[in-house]
Amino acid sequence: MRPDLLCLLALLFLLGQTTGQLETLVPDASASSFPDSGFSSNFISGFSSNDSFRPSLDSESQSLSNFTGFEDDHGTCHCSVTLPDTTFPVQRVERLEVTAHVLSQKFEKELSKVKEYVQLISIYEKKLVNLTVRVEIMEKDTISYTELDFELIKLEVKEMEKLIIQLKDSFVGSTTIVDQLEVEIRNMSLLVEQLETLDKNNVLAIRREILALKNRLKECEASKGENVPASPPPPAPGSCGHGGVVNISKPAIVQLNWRGFSYKYGAWGRNYSPQQPNGGLYWVAPLNTDGRVLEYYRLHNTLDDLLLYINAQDHRMTYGQGSGTAVYNNYMYVNWYNTRNIAKINLNNNRVELTRTLPDAAYNNRFSYANVGWQDIDLAVDENGLWVIYSTEASTGNMVISKLNDTTLTVLNTWYTRQYKPSVSNAFMVCGVLYATRTLNTRTEEIFYYYDTNTGREGRLDIVMNKMQERVQSINYHPFDQKLFVYNDGYLLNYDLIFNKEPK
Ligand SMILES: *[C@@H]1O[C@H](CO)[C@@H](O)[C@H](O)[C@H]1NC(C)=O
Ligand SMILES: *[C@@H]1O[C@H](CO)[C@@H](O)[C@H](O)[C@H]1NC(C)=O
Ligand SMILES: *[C@@H]1O[C@H](CO)[C@@H](O)[C@H](O)[C@H]1NC(C)=O
Ligand SMILES: *[C@@H]1O[C@H](CO)[C@@H](O)[C@H](O)[C@H]1NC(C)=O
Ligand SMILES: *[C@@H]1O[C@H](CO)[C@@H](O)[C@H](O)[C@H]1NC(C)=O
Ligand SMILES: *[C@@H]1O[C@H](CO)[C@@H](O)[C@H](O)[C@H]1NC(C)=O
Repeated sequence: MRPDLLCLLALLFLLGQTTGQLETLVPDASASSFPDSGFSSNFISGFSSNDSFRPSLDSESQSLSNFTGFEDDHGTCHCSVTLPDTTFPVQRVERLEVTAHVLSQKFEKELSKVKEYVQLISIYEKKLVNLTVRVEIMEKDTISYTELDFELIKLEVKEMEKLIIQLKDSFVGSTTIVDQLEVEIRNMSLLVEQLETLDKNNVLAIRREILALKNRLKECEASKGENVPASPPPPAPGSCGHGGVVNISKPAIVQLNWRGFSYKYGAWGRNYSPQQPNGGLYWVAPLNTDGRVLEYYRLHNTLDDLLLYINAQDHRMTYGQGSGTAVYNNYMYVNWYNTRNIAKINLNNNRVELTRTLPDAAYNNRFSYANVGWQDIDLAVDENGLWVIYSTEASTGNMVISKLNDTTLTVLNTWYTRQYKPSVSNAFMVCGVLYATRTLNTRTEEIFYYYDTNTGREGRLDIVMNKMQERVQSINYHPFDQKLFVYNDGYLLNYDLIFNKEPK
């Protein structure tokens, strides 16, 4: 090799030592036979990101090319370099060095970001697979999922959507994978929504609507309260510190009864125990399609279970009659088939613990309600306990109210009204006051009559009550919820009672 070339190499080596990066950027310099022009462009190409270096370095390498070299007798190589007038461009090299360093740092950062994204994406992919599996399970299975499942999945999908949007914002490189993920996530949330609408009875949607309405109602009430600060608070659940029923809410459709559309006759409600006022299970007792025989009933521990038709206990009895059923203290009270007897059934074991005759009571459609058969004997529960509403021949078909001892089913006291029972569509008791309804038309009922057993007073009311179907088959009151449970031609409805806040 020529000594002058060796000299150049040595120089380059020295330069390389000071700049670090240069060395690696010209890795095979010693092996190649670089022509001057090719070398300088080669040299530059590693730093192409800052073009402002190119011309200045080019001229530098030209001025450095004024050197001579020779080999002496001992074989030692000597170089002499004539530095041009300008001093060695230390500052520029340093700048170059710094820039290269910054660039490499930037590159490292980008690289680690990309690695991070790749990791994140693989996590998302796993999550997507997991969600897909769960959604598929839900698709196959029509009933075993709960509202909670939907909510959790929706939350997760929403979270992923948020993350993917963040990821997209910070991702500078190719986003095709991210775009695809985003589409899949969108797809997933659509699917979850579709699944929800597939929910057979629209139970969840309806409940949500009900909740929204209730919240609006509460807001309304709150704003009303601001204007009328003097009104006393509503009566405590289960208490009778109010002036009686003055209005009723719109009905909330809870659902179709569990036996289906053809089971138009029946009753439903919630067990009330004074010892555990808010712990009652829910019961649904549709009559057989003949509208007379009560054979099967169903219990649910919670309203959610009832709404989703899950965790039900089904029982059979032989037989009850009509839909005058009531439940108190974990016992179901029914008119026994083809008799004037009342039967008491233990809900823990479905055993008939006691049957007792209701003296003089008319039965078997003698004085049932208007448009409702086999309900001559209608049991009722209120804050004070168990009641029975019926008629006798002596009362000439007018309503008779008896307070019962729920342990023995003996009559404790009796009140005689002047209201003819067959012209009443149904009745319920609240705080010892009987309220009776009549049909105004196919869409509305009216609470039109009351009899107060506390005072013996009776009179007219005009509280309009909307209904979904034509016939109100039964009404049951729950003292803690202060709600009516209405069986409306197979549909289970709930109404909130509104009381006069001033006690009488
Ligand atoms: C390139 O280098 C010049 C001079 O050192 C500097 O002013 C400029 O900011 C650099 N440009 C980039 C893109 O780094
Ligand atoms: C090289 O150096 C010599 C003196 O040693 C000078 O005469 C000549 O002009 C220089 N060449 C360049 C290109 O700078
Ligand atoms: C999905 O993830 C949950 C926890 O996030 C886990 O319990 C479940 O087993 C996973 N399912 C599948 C199918 O991987
Ligand atoms: C979105 O879901 C539908 C079916 O629900 C499917 O046909 C389609 O391929 C999905 N799109 C993507 C991008 O996953
Ligand atoms: C009874 O409540 C309904 C709403 O459910 C309302 O429109 C009506 O005005 C109320 N009637 C009275 C007398 O407060
Ligand atoms: C109901 O009857 C039982 C048993 O005879 C008796 O112990 C209880 O005091 C009675 N309850 C009322 C409210 O009369």
